[in-house]
Formats: sequence, C-alpha cells, structure tokens
Amino acid sequence: MEKQWWKESVVYQIYPRSFMDSNGDGIGDIPGIISKLDYLKELGIDVIWLSPVYKSPNDDNGYDISDYQDIMDEFGTMDDWDQLLKEMHNRGMKLIMDLVVNHSSDEHKWFVESRKSKDNPYRDYYIWRKPKDGKEPNNWGSNFGGSAWEYDEETGEYFLHLFSKKQPDLNWENPKLREDVYSMMKWWLDKGIDGFRMDVVNFISKVEGLPDDEVKPGKKYASGSKYYRNGPKIHDYFKEMHKEVLSNYDVMTVGEMPGVNPEQARLYTGKDRDELNMVFQFSHMSLDNGKNGKWDLKPLYLPDLKENLTHWQTALEKDGWNSLYFNNHDQPRVVSRFGDDGKYHRESAKMLATILHMMKGTPYVYQGEEIGMTNVRFSSIEEYEDIETLNFYNEQMEAGEPVQKTMESIYVKGRDNARTPMQWDSSRNAGFTEGEPWLAVNPNHKEINAEAQVNDEDSIFHYYKKLIELRKQHEVIVYGRYELILGDHEKLYAYTRTLGDEKLLVLCNFYDEDLEIDLPEEVVSENASTLITNYKGETKLAKQMKLQPYQAIVYKL
Ligand code: NOJ
Repeated sequence: MEKQWWKESVVYQIYPRSFMDSNGDGIGDIPGIISKLDYLKELGIDVIWLSPVYKSPNDDNGYDISDYQDIMDEFGTMDDWDQLLKEMHNRGMKLIMDLVVNHSSDEHKWFVESRKSKDNPYRDYYIWRKPKDGKEPNNWGSNFGGSAWEYDEETGEYFLHLFSKKQPDLNWENPKLREDVYSMMKWWLDKGIDGFRMDVVNFISKVEGLPDDEVKPGKKYASGSKYYRNGPKIHDYFKEMHKEVLSNYDVMTVGEMPGVNPEQARLYTGKDRDELNMVFQFSHMSLDNGKNGKWDLKPLYLPDLKENLTHWQTALEKDGWNSLYFNNHDQPRVVSRFGDDGKYHRESAKMLATILHMMKGTPYVYQGEEIGMTNVRFSSIEEYEDIETLNFYNEQMEAGEPVQKTMESIYVKGRDNARTPMQWDSSRNAGFTEGEPWLAVNPNHKEINAEAQVNDEDSIFHYYKKLIELRKQHEVIVYGRYELILGDHEKLYAYTRTLGDEKLLVLCNFYDEDLEIDLPEEVVSENASTLITNYKGETKLAKQMKLQPYQAIVYKL
C-alpha cells in the first residue's frame, strides 16, 4: 500500500460558529479558532477541516455560500483567515477547506444574474425547467423537506434545490460553471491550503431528463436520489477536476457522499483513478434508522455495525482509502447515540474512540468529541436553530403528529446536538462567549469541559491524545490489515490488525455489563502487552476472560 501523509494524519473538524467566540457577539469566529490552536496541537491533530467560513446569508449555517472568495463578517476578515493559515502552518498543522459546489446561495451573484432573464449569461449556471402541467417539473422532494423545486415569478420557471430553497443546485453540465469552480479552487490552493472536504459532491451529476421517481406510501414527494447520487457524468467531472486542479498540488481530498457503497468508493478513491483520496460514506450512520428514515428511531444492533464497518475495511483493503468517523456537524453525539452518556460516560466514550481509531483509514475527530460532549434536550422547539430540524418539526405538526414524539426524534437525531457551543470550561456559557451564544450551551458543561479534562490524566481528552500518539508510533495502525473476529457476537466488537510481524488485538465490550468472552486460540498470546485500555489495573489476555462494562483493550501480540 502506497504511503501518503493524509493516510497517516488525524483530522479535527471545526464548526466555526460553535467553536470559540473572541468578540462577544455569541458566534464563534476565526480569531477564536487561532486562540485554541495550541489546545489542538496538544491533542496531536495534524489537519483541521474547517466547515464553511465564506460569505453566507446563513440559511444553512454557511452551507449556502454567497461569495466563495470572501469571509463571513461574523467570522472575521480575510486577514484573520490568512493569520489562521500561518499560525497553523507554523505549528505543523494543515488546513482543509469545505468546498460546497453542488449548490450556492440564492444570494450568490451567479444566481442573482441567473434568475433575471432566460437569456442571461448565468442562466445556465443553475437548473431551470418549465412547469409541467402547471406544476413542478418532477416529483422529487428536497433533503430538507418539501418539494425540490421553487417557482420563480420573474421568468415563470422552476429552479432545482436538493436542499433549502435558498440553496439552488449548480448546473455541472455547463463547462463555464465548471471552469469558474476550478479557478476558485486554484485561488484557495494558491493561498496555501492543503485540500478540500467536498460537500454532497456525489450529487453534482443529475440523470438527463430529471425523471420522476416512485412516491413511497404516505409520502408527498419522491426521493429522486437514484437520479442524482453517483450520476452518469460524476467520474468525468472528478477526472477533469483532478487534471485541471488537484494534480498540480500535494493536497488531500475527501468527498462527502451519501448513498455510496464500497465498490463505488473504490472508483472514487482508487490509486490509479485520479479522482479523490477518500469519501465520507453514511451507511453506518443509518443503522439506527427505522424504515421511515432518520427520524424513525431504532436501536443499533451491534452485529449490523460490525458487518458494515468490516465490509468497508475489507473492500478498500488493497485499493482506495477509508475515512473513519462517528461524529460531524450533522450527526448526533456518538457517546449519546451508541454509548452511555450517564453512568459510563467516560468508559463508553473511550471505548467508541478505540473502535474507530484502531481501524484502517484516516480518523476524524469532531469538535467536542475528544471530551465526550453529549446530545442536548432543549425543552421547547423555540430553542432550536437547525433548518432541517425546524422543517421536520413543522411538517410533523401539520400532519397532526404528537409534539412529544416529534421532540424525542429531535433529541436523538437532530443536528443541533452537534452544534451546541464547544465546552471549554465550567464558567457561564462554557467559556465559549462573553455574550449570548447563538445556540444555548449544554447545561452539562459544568462537568464535561476541556479545561477539566486537560488537567485530568484519566480523561477522555487524554485517551484521545494517546490513541493519536499510538497511530504515530505503530505503522500497523495506519497500514495493517483488518480482520474481524467473533463476528456474530452480539456484545463484543473484536478485530485484529496485522502488518508484517506486528499484530494488534482490539477488544471492545459495547454494553454496560460485565462480559465473559471466549477468544479463538490464534489470538491468545502469552507475551501480549497492553497498548491502551480504559480501565485501571491489568487485564491479562486469556482464552477465557472477562471485560468490564464498556471496557476496551488493545493488545500488542
Ligand atoms: C451536507 C452538510 O454536511 C450539511 O450540513 C448541509 O446542510 C448539506 N450538505 C447541504 O449543504
């Protein structure tokens, strides 16, 4: 397997709005990020992925961009950003920027022009269609609820928006649009950034004719996703982007790709494919979805997670590369989701980190994950800010669904769980701001905060730090082969990693009770030493052994 710096890196994602506010306006900003770089250096981070900091009317918190080459006023200035890059590079850290080019904001100058008239030079930068029988051009729904089409009085046509109606989809069929995107990418790369995370980038090629899709029972709109995910020209676009832009720089790229399978991921990330380095896949994030999707709650069944992650580990074993994540700004907090955010908060957060950080791939830590930040339960919908959450709530109310059931789904799955401000200390507003935070701080910041954990050697923070250090010390963690053991076990997640003579055994008890296990002979070595564990004292490796609640141990065999 070819060695690459981005395979050996650990990435930290910053959602700037919620990270650190330096000027008391209640919104995180770039100088705030700069003030926390030493904290991230101490954690051992190599790369920061910065969620969008560009000019935006904030319909979707910066994922609706009105100027790709300028900074949002609330976040600071371009000088602040230049300073951030300099301060990061001085500390030996790299920066990857979010590239959001499936859609722009409707306030972007391209769209302002585009909607003016049918013969405007920018008309074709977006996807406009005539009404069909006086209605929407097709039956697709938006990912944020409602129709995927918005009618525009001015020219009497509809435009496509797979997300909010303030996020019109860009038309990648148009070579001029592609050229403009590439030149914008070059502009950032020439400023010295180290790569891109690409937002829903497997949505950019739509099937010609934008056909109607099947409407499932009880739904008003069809998904349409089979006509825009991994579409017909997607590989042509990546190959062109690679040739025109990426091949000229030593950078890392990760494409966010809902609905991608491992075989497709190999096409996107294979060594000789000249496309991307890795993708964010989502299949492991939907194992706790009921049949009606994300808001339909279902408990995770551990063997499903093992089967899923193992499939990804083995499919990309020889060619392609995995990203490893349990958290980001769109997902609920993993310790609340798959662990225990009460009695075994510390143990379960560390156990989940072990499962992920011992796998093959590039690990991503989302802000606050390294201190075990948890989901939040605000008492009323008024306290929520996320557009997806609010749209869901309103649709449920219109459909006459009970408030309590709706709130329960939001408590478990809502995106604001990930977006409450970073918990720096136990003071008012968790040290995030001197002012009023744009989204309330989780009341548990008095117990769960970075300051307390940096000062406690046994904390979740120090455990993450150690996992990151181990990755630097043992090549087997980066490049070794992954093999699942005891695959059908309902409570244990166990696997080995092997590189040449080096072999690791990872054992994780996924539940809150003691667990007696019976290991296969071939992994039971007399001379095993413990690399890391989340319990004090020694747990000796034996064929038959007992793990404590949420215990995780990594042995070097
Ligand atoms: C995926 C991003 O992660 C999410 O936050 C955003 O709402 C959508 N793409 C639309 O840009």
